[in-house]
Amino acid sequence: MNILLLNGPNLNLLGEREPDIYGSTTLPELEAKVQTRARELGANLRAFQSNHEGALIDELHQARHWANGVVFNPGAFTHYSYALRDAISSTKLRVVEVHLSDILKREPFRAISVLEEVCAHRVMGKGVPGYLEALEWLCAAR
Ligand code: DQA
Repeated sequence: MNILLLNGPNLNLLGEREPDIYGSTTLPELEAKVQTRARELGANLRAFQSNHEGALIDELHQARHWANGVVFNPGAFTHYSYALRDAISSTKLRVVEVHLSDILKREPFRAISVLEEVCAHRVMGKGVPGYLEALEWLCAAR
């Protein structure tokens, strides 16, 4: 089982970025926690973060050859990136959309996800454990 853990814009600032909303765990700590759980589940995990839409698209394209699933927090791209939506549907990757916060309970623009329809599952508002839930969902859904 090969899993790609993908984090989008501004998630490299986790830990210092609005900790009241996103918590105090840094991105390296988050990636380490997901990696540990992946090992426990016998899955092989690659982690990647970018602030750039094209780099995330390139990563999805490359993952289509090897990944069985993607745990993806697209950050603000969630709300408007039709290019990422097309990348997910074009690659036919099984993607779980993850958000640390509950995007339905914040500003109205965050309630819209243009990716939801092309993702297999969504986990939000559960902080870092939400990433583990997404990983476990992918491993169980196989
Ligand atoms: C986020 C929610 C998005 O609205 C925001 O732009 C982010 C993080 C979350 O994890 O809650 O960057 O995806």
